[in-house]
Amino acid sequence: MGFRGPFTRWLIGSANFLVVMNTAVQGDVIAIASDHAGFSLKVILREDIERKGFRALDLGTDSLDPADYPKIAESLALTVASGKARFGVVLCGTGIGVSIAANRHLGIRAALCHNVETVRLGRRHNDANVLALGARVIDEVTARACLQEFLVTEFEKAERHSRRVAMLDKAVNGTLL
Ligand code: RB5
Repeated sequence: MGFRGPFTRWLIGSANFLVVMNTAVQGDVIAIASDHAGFSLKVILREDIERKGFRALDLGTDSLDPADYPKIAESLALTVASGKARFGVVLCGTGIGVSIAANRHLGIRAALCHNVETVRLGRRHNDANVLALGARVIDEVTARACLQEFLVTEFEKAERHSRRVAMLDKAVNGTLL
């Protein structure tokens, strides 16, 4: 167990408390971002977010010009982790790059999903607060269904799930064991 000062422990405890909240409700801000590979699908999903009564906070990219996914994911992760958005949706070609990048940020639980079932379990068991999608590996209908499921599915809040989710932000550089 690595050393943590009282302030660091308080900060992590507060972050864990803040992220244990309910599913998105209408009016909530949902951040969305993509690199160039996810740009076209992002536009479609952004419209879906707004059509469902949420506020979409589009963090770019704004064209098909090449954009570096680590920067895109960082912008989205900071927005969700700071509470400026309730949830995030992030896209690249495979979804892999953006999910790896987003998950490096404390408080972020990005689930890379390819179907509605993984989205449902990512919300119910992992309290995923970011949905990562691969625009080159899933079709539009599936992506839209994944978004819908992500926005309406609640965290199960069973003790075992809460305990495991709380461990995630403590598992930095081998400090969990
Ligand atoms: C871009 O060509 C592609 O590498 C990127 O969108 C993503 O799939 C990376 O994980």
